[in-house]
Amino acid sequence: MKKIALIFGITGQDGSYLARFLLKKNYLVHGVVRRSSSINTKRLDDIYEPFEKKNRKLILHYGDLIDSSSVQTLISQILPDEIYNLAAQSHVAVSFQTPEYTGNVDGLGTLRILESIKNLKMKKNIKFYQAGTSEMFGGSQSKSQNENTKFDPKSPYAAGKIYAHSITRIYRDAYNIFACNGILFNHESPQRGETFVTKKIIKGLVNIKLGKQKVLYLGNLYAKRDWGHAQDYVEAMWKIVNYKSPEDFVIATNSQKTIKDFINIVCRKLKIKIKWKGKGLNEVGYVDQKRDIIKIDKRYFRPLEVKYLKGNYSKAKKLLKWKPKISLTQLVDDMIKFELKIDDK
Ligand code: NAP
Ligand code: GDD
Repeated sequence: MKKIALIFGITGQDGSYLARFLLKKNYLVHGVVRRSSSINTKRLDDIYEPFEKKNRKLILHYGDLIDSSSVQTLISQILPDEIYNLAAQSHVAVSFQTPEYTGNVDGLGTLRILESIKNLKMKKNIKFYQAGTSEMFGGSQSKSQNENTKFDPKSPYAAGKIYAHSITRIYRDAYNIFACNGILFNHESPQRGETFVTKKIIKGLVNIKLGKQKVLYLGNLYAKRDWGHAQDYVEAMWKIVNYKSPEDFVIATNSQKTIKDFINIVCRKLKIKIKWKGKGLNEVGYVDQKRDIIKIDKRYFRPLEVKYLKGNYSKAKKLLKWKPKISLTQLVDDMIKFELKIDDK
């Protein structure tokens, strides 16, 4: 019989990749879309199936993680085999401006799903995946972070995610629910949200190359991130849920670059000969002797910064036989190609 999956956050970057991945594995995929005043399903356009179609493989429902009635109703009606909770207010900087909302969606939203799973346990053992994050390690001083590294959150977002991580473990232990946490390091793709730094850099530099934009404004260029490709990471989510026992796993590439390194890689690919001068807020990236193309805007600095993330994914490699397949340079190629194609239209 076809397995049934329910994805909260199906309209996001990871949701759109996971839906495709599960459809290829012949799942019946249900996804939760929150109502917005403009269309938020564009990442699903090419797999969307209209309501009237018979034997749909992808079925979308309205719902919201801050509305427990919608969460309960959907889970009890669909009775999925697997639930993937990818829904979140996922922007770290924005979480400082909407801390209560972020805690409600990212923290309590997870509890709402787990409560439904617990209440339905007599009917069905539903497996649960929680989208945890390397942001939970925050200020960690470890050379690389693994499942045993102590959390040290540096944002309301990270605090909300730690609540979600902990409540997932608690429901696993207290009620014997197959509930797992992925602790995923940064992952990007052509479908990445436009205000995250990799997408912002690539879109901005492509526009500069095409003469459509003069300057790209950024914040801290010296934070280090461990960047992988979303396509690899959704496969890891599925492997985690389909492992023999419910456990928590770090998913990463075990390498890192600064934001400035990332800009230099993109510039090389686009044949932009960038040079750097100045320091702090006065640092600029320029071309042709004196044309500034990257400038610093202090609005993009956060009240607290996570300076250093590098993930040790040995456990996933050993138990799940998972490792990243797409390199950082392939990721950049993929994202650049997408921006250039969009521009052709
Ligand atoms: P994303 O593109 O921002 O997608 C977030 C999804 O959550 C969207 O579908 C969004 O809907 C939905 N959502 C937001 N608030 C909601 C609410 N109140 N109720 C229901 N749905 C809601 O994020 P992503 O990059 O795909 O990441 C997926 C998950 O992994 C997130 O939980 C994120 O925190 C976590 N994570 C991401 C990374 C990464 O590097 N990408 C790393 C570690 C963990 P709309 O489309 O309507 O906004
Ligand atoms: N967004 C953004 N915009 N970030 C900037 C900018 C800018 O203009 N300039 C510099 N940065 C720096 C940030 O200060 C941060 O150190 C780094 O670039 C990465 O920022 P984001 O791309 O916004 O990602 P993030 O690392 O804060 O969070 C992402 O990864 C987490 C996993 O570690 C998000 O996807 C989270 O949802 C995810 O949990």
